[in-house]
Amino acid sequence: MAYRLLFVCLGNICRSPSAENIMNHLIRQAGLEREIVCDSAGTSSYHIGSPPDRRMTAAAKLQGIELIGQARQFIRSDFEEFDLILAMDHDNYEAICSIDPAGTYQDKVQLMCDFCTNHKLREVPDPYYGGTEGFNFVIDLLLDACQGLLDFVIKEQNLTPSSSPSIERS
Ligand code: 4NP
Repeated sequence: MAYRLLFVCLGNICRSPSAENIMNHLIRQAGLEREIVCDSAGTSSYHIGSPPDRRMTAAAKLQGIELIGQARQFIRSDFEEFDLILAMDHDNYEAICSIDPAGTYQDKVQLMCDFCTNHKLREVPDPYYGGTEGFNFVIDLLLDACQGLLDFVIKEQNLTPSSSPSIERS
């Protein structure tokens, strides 16, 4: 069974779809598509059905990463469906935990920035009401966090990345 990761932010149109698509990019490079599966969701219902924000998509493209997906809202059954749930900021973390008042799944929920190795920030800042630099920064931060997360999952699940990265499919 594949290890399942869920990335969560507020709207599921900026940060969490970026994390999902960056992670899939790194997973493909490591040849681990069958071992690790990713999805993303928002704690709000604001943008259900929408594609990733076009400003976020442009920032990701600068790093050679395509953003695909359609926003959906986080639901209680996600606690069962996923092995690890990554919150982009403390508000997201609290919103997720409020759906699990007994704390049954608390160990599955972590802050995305806990996996950063270069950046010191504890949260992925919400870029929605800011300018281009904020979107570029989110991509840079998530590249760091996703690499740390991939290294963690490889170690924890005892996975073997392919020595020659798989050819990117278009
Ligand atoms: P995200 O960004 O949580 O990273 O997808 C936001 C998207 C939409 C809104 C806020 C943040 N909004 O208020 O509509």
